[in-house]
Amino acid sequence: MTKYQSFEHDVLIIGSGGAGLSLALQLPKTTHIAVLSKFDLQHCNTYFAQGGISAVLESDDTLESHIEDTLISGAGLCKRNIVELVVSHGKQCVEWLIQQGVEFTEEETEDGDSQLHLTREGGHSHRRVVHSADATGKAIITTLDQRAREASNIDLYEYHNAVDLIQTRHQSSQKRIDGAYVLDIKHDKVVAFRARSVVLATGGSSRVYLYTSNPDVATGDGIALAWRAGCRVANMEFNQFHPTCLYHPDARSFLISEAVRGEGGKLLLPNGKQFMDKFDSRKELAPRDIVARAIDHEMKRLGIECVYLDISHQSADFVTSHFPTIYETCLKYNIDITKQPIPVVPAAHYTCGGVMTDIKGRTDIDGLYAIGEVTCTGLHGANRMASNSLLECQVFARQVHDDIIKTNPLRPPPPEVAEWDESRVTDSDEEVVISHNWRQLRQFMWDYVGIVRTDKRLARAKRRVEMLKQEIQEYYGHFKISSDLLELRNLVTVADLVITSAMQRKESRGLHYTLDYPETDAKQAEDTVLIPHHSTHVIHDKQPLTIDKG
Ligand code: FAD
Ligand code: SIN
Repeated sequence: MTKYQSFEHDVLIIGSGGAGLSLALQLPKTTHIAVLSKFDLQHCNTYFAQGGISAVLESDDTLESHIEDTLISGAGLCKRNIVELVVSHGKQCVEWLIQQGVEFTEEETEDGDSQLHLTREGGHSHRRVVHSADATGKAIITTLDQRAREASNIDLYEYHNAVDLIQTRHQSSQKRIDGAYVLDIKHDKVVAFRARSVVLATGGSSRVYLYTSNPDVATGDGIALAWRAGCRVANMEFNQFHPTCLYHPDARSFLISEAVRGEGGKLLLPNGKQFMDKFDSRKELAPRDIVARAIDHEMKRLGIECVYLDISHQSADFVTSHFPTIYETCLKYNIDITKQPIPVVPAAHYTCGGVMTDIKGRTDIDGLYAIGEVTCTGLHGANRMASNSLLECQVFARQVHDDIIKTNPLRPPPPEVAEWDESRVTDSDEEVVISHNWRQLRQFMWDYVGIVRTDKRLARAKRRVEMLKQEIQEYYGHFKISSDLLELRNLVTVADLVITSAMQRKESRGLHYTLDYPETDAKQAEDTVLIPHHSTHVIHDKQPLTIDKG
């Protein structure tokens, strides 16, 4: 470890996905901003988004219809005012992205002009998904990455992993967040980032499951950081499983976009028969929870390893122009999707719950905001509708921008903080504890807290997570930190929050389905809100507590 470093900025944004970079680019050029990313800037869920971003643009579509579809998907738990806010900003968000240079797919109109092509996905009653072929996230993130590198007020810190939030007890006011301790991965040292406002934009936590469409970064760090700092977390039982990820021994986490079903793709059993009509009149375009559960049911009923998604009835030209990434990726595995069905299985995809925020993106603690998949804003309720999350990232980046420009000048500069203390820990002597616990955690979450739950399975998971929590905490207390250890510590926290929330909900609703309470109970149409027990916020052994004398 080399000399201690401490950085000061106006705003610290933890996360460089669609949410974090959009906020950084919207803040005034006079605001000095730090953006952290755990690996390289583009390694995030946003990069892998395929289908697109929803916005009401078709002439016979209406905001009311988008609102209604979102509320239906959310199974009674969406907050109407938040849905209205997000949906009403769709067009503006798409225009802002275009101004940044994002190129969306266009089509020719009858009079020879061009207009944005809109695709369709589950739950949407109209075509309203703006996209860049089947690699919308890549188009967005590569553009925002370029803009952020050009901006002189934005300092980008790649390979910087936020360990914990810095919480100062101000004698004059209540508690406040003033920054974060951060592991500089390449230099193997912990540094401090101090700022007047701190924004969590760390994405979701689907890596808590063995099978997922998410890249490695999605370990729920922001949820765990906020929880340890004392913020409430809500609706963690609503884990979205995407119905169709590629099933192939060599393919890892590759999604087959819902837009394939939007453009006529059919789900088939191994005998070539369609089956979705048995489960929902909307068939392949039913909301995601219904389709994922139907596939899971058929796989278990027939003892099969996957089902199939077939788009080969469309012309080869149509398929390759709409889905070039999916076509090429499948071809690498010797699956020609213009000629044959694609083997698919459900996998963990999106975290509907998260850090509770208000309409301005503020969390429970002064100075701390949250945006994007890390949050629970009230938009998604019990089940997110496809393509609403990229939109949520944009809209809440704008909300937080509006609040920060008003409040930041009024906040005092962040105080100096004590050096990260590693005097009582040593180098790990048993790294295998990390890899073993990591595997075990993800496996039992998949087996016991997956698409279909029961009281018994949840109780089994709870016993295991308690044991792992204790073991990981002990390990954390004794050894120097590494990125893997930090992620494992966060994952076990998230797993515990998911299990605890799932155990509290004694009904089936949206993404939470349990065989013990298969019906929805109108009396339980409420968020599951978890409140941290600790009333003092000394975060852990290694982190000194700063007292601001001001
Ligand atoms: P992310 O894009 O995941 O960014 C998180 C950032 O936080 C990363 O930069 C990461 O490095 C950083 N980070 C995390 N932890 C730390 C830490 N401890 N310290 C420092 N940095 C940290 N949604 C749609 O609306 N439409 C779609 O078509 C769509 N398709 C999808 C396809 C796939 C395969 C996946 C996985 C998701 C898809 N989604 C889609 C969901 C959507 O992509 C995400 O919800 C959204 O992009 C999340 O953006 P974000 O900025 O909140 O998080
Ligand atoms: C997809 O393209 O199927 C993913 C869309 C989403 O998760 O919103």
